[in-house]
Amino acid sequence: MKITDDIIYVGVNDHDIDLFEGQYIVPNGMAYNSYVIKDEKTAVMDTVDANFAEEWLGNIDTALGGAAPDYLIVQHMEPDHSANIAKFTEKYPEAKVVANAKAFQMMSNFFRGMNLGDKKVEVKNQETLSLGKHELTFVFAPMVHWPEVMVTYDSTDKVLFSADAFGKFGALDVEEDWDCEARRYYFGIVGKYGKQAENLLKVAEGLDIQTICALHGPILKENLEHYIGQYKTWSSYGVETEGVMIAYTSVYGNTKKAAETLASALEAKGCPKVVLCDLAREDMAEAVEDAFRHGKLVLATTTYNGDIFPFMRTFIEALIERGYQNRTMGIIENGSWAITAGKVIRGLFEKSKDLTWVDTTVSIMSSMSEENEAQIEAMAEELCK
Ligand code: FEO
Repeated sequence: MKITDDIIYVGVNDHDIDLFEGQYIVPNGMAYNSYVIKDEKTAVMDTVDANFAEEWLGNIDTALGGAAPDYLIVQHMEPDHSANIAKFTEKYPEAKVVANAKAFQMMSNFFRGMNLGDKKVEVKNQETLSLGKHELTFVFAPMVHWPEVMVTYDSTDKVLFSADAFGKFGALDVEEDWDCEARRYYFGIVGKYGKQAENLLKVAEGLDIQTICALHGPILKENLEHYIGQYKTWSSYGVETEGVMIAYTSVYGNTKKAAETLASALEAKGCPKVVLCDLAREDMAEAVEDAFRHGKLVLATTTYNGDIFPFMRTFIEALIERGYQNRTMGIIENGSWAITAGKVIRGLFEKSKDLTWVDTTVSIMSSMSEENEAQIEAMAEELCK
């Protein structure tokens, strides 16, 4: 696949993977992107996952008509992109490997005994590399998503090789909406590092970018302001969609009934969007992205071993770890003798920034009472203000 006259796609699709990064379901597979820049000197941008070494090396071979590349540029050392560095250097012993000091440090840990000798080209932030016509500038983007990450700007073709930024789940031979799987990817994988993603966006703002080539997901050529706009909202913990997410866990259906009653009350009041999510049964990464997407979140759960139900705890910890903030929150708690869920939830969010709790907490003893129904109505009223 040609991206510009000189830039060719040499990545691979993975439909065999069960869990990406050992935890994320990827129903439409995963793409590990890699690119060749053809010029007086040729460069390969990153490698791919270990399982696809032969296919990837074959793609490079085809793209270069059997010629050897001059450079391998390593932007990120996570093995989904770096696993084939040693295989590349074995096949192309004359090629130079371009990376920053942190990446080379990681390389020595991942590839014990690999000696690059004079083939090592260590670059500093904002350093440039000329391939002839193409001038590449390396911009360090620490923690988007590992500390050694750098992105690369090709000022000739106005292409930003953005590493994990702007990536998404899903192989490239499956058509699907960008936003949903890019959002799940962002909040799952990069979400903790909003500040660092914002820093990268600031750098990007100063560049004339016509194409974004990420390490996962499609090559972005049109409507770039949409993708950059989404990243601005996500990295600043902004509200993307007005509405209420009700995340619940329920053992015997009573808490679920309360969650559904609240959903109906919100809908009756014209709430722009209501999302109900059973945390025990839905994909946790999907639940996390929905919580960051919407402006309001109600947590409905049972008291369990003096704490809260395990799936709710996992969910809340995932939010806190990613810096959940700037939201309106409500609690529906349930218990059959000592109700402690609400107290535990508030305690967990104690250090979170800019959370506004609605005045009403719905406190259920086993099953909804008339008083609880009135509380739910009052909570819906507050959430629709
Ligand atoms: Fe796609 Fe952070 O690796």
